[in-house]
Amino acid sequence: MKKVTVSAPGKLHLSGEHAVVHGKPAVVVSTSKRMFMTLQNAELRSQNSTRISDLRKKDIFVNEIIKKVEGKYKTSFKDTLSLTIHSDIPIGSGMGSSAALAVTLVAALVTYLGRLWSPQEINELAFQAEKLKHVNASGSDPTIVTYGGILWYRKELDFLKTFWLLPFKFPKKFSPFMLINTGREETTGDLVTHVGRLREENENAFILLITQIEEITRQLVKAIHDENEKQFRPLIQMNEKLLEKMGVVSTSTQAFIRAIEKAGGVAKISGAGGIKNGSGIVIAAHDDLRVITKVAEKYKYPFFQTILGGEGVRLEQVTV
Ligand code: PMV
Repeated sequence: MKKVTVSAPGKLHLSGEHAVVHGKPAVVVSTSKRMFMTLQNAELRSQNSTRISDLRKKDIFVNEIIKKVEGKYKTSFKDTLSLTIHSDIPIGSGMGSSAALAVTLVAALVTYLGRLWSPQEINELAFQAEKLKHVNASGSDPTIVTYGGILWYRKELDFLKTFWLLPFKFPKKFSPFMLINTGREETTGDLVTHVGRLREENENAFILLITQIEEITRQLVKAIHDENEKQFRPLIQMNEKLLEKMGVVSTSTQAFIRAIEKAGGVAKISGAGGIKNGSGIVIAAHDDLRVITKVAEKYKYPFFQTILGGEGVRLEQVTV
């Protein structure tokens, strides 16, 4: 095989981030933002491609992903291979850029080896690699990026992850989300460790908190299923408040979200959050989206929109 191109979507956590690390359900949705990756023989290299041997030295996560595939298929990839990546998924802000990297790279390497295209296997190898980032990874990110759509996801045990692809779409009649990137300084691993400490400090209070989040997650799915936006919006707001209680929303992001609420909207962080400065991507809803863009402009945060429910990992092209 000379060349293979694959793509995978970014994602958003609608509810249950962090709680999912501790065995509670999460609802995750794929987006129309995608990463495209081409793996090719070095003689076909284009200007913006990089040899995988160089990438392996530079990026321990890329190295880990490749090692997982090598381990599984008892092979080693030659340094004559190169990679080209194009992506419009914001990096390190809660939209699944790492998971998209892991999933596309595993999928490209497995296809290059001429192996069967198995989403289950792609997801598992990407999950194993994700553990380099944080040992307690729930696996919700690689799973939604692999399968796409809207998922009800739960990690019962490290080897027992259950998910259900919801047989309905995010309602078209809901006003679309505006996504605002507040930036973030910490890694997902830092934030997961921070939440883990909270659990150690007061187990009972923590269990109560994640049980409240679980209830919101349940009601949120019902509101999506029933296409009931009147019920959906307050749940986003309650969800945000519980994440703030968990300590994963920075003071500046809290102030930004309060400003959106004051203007009649609702908003929450999506993903691991952030404490020092920003808290990654914030999803916001309002009857008039211009109101949100005005608040975002005031805070000098970039904003954009995306379509929810993009297709999962996809084989784009193979040149034999
Ligand atoms: O890395 P992020 O920002 O997409 O967050 C992942 C979601 C967490 O629940 C915080 C971690 C996990 O492994 O599920």
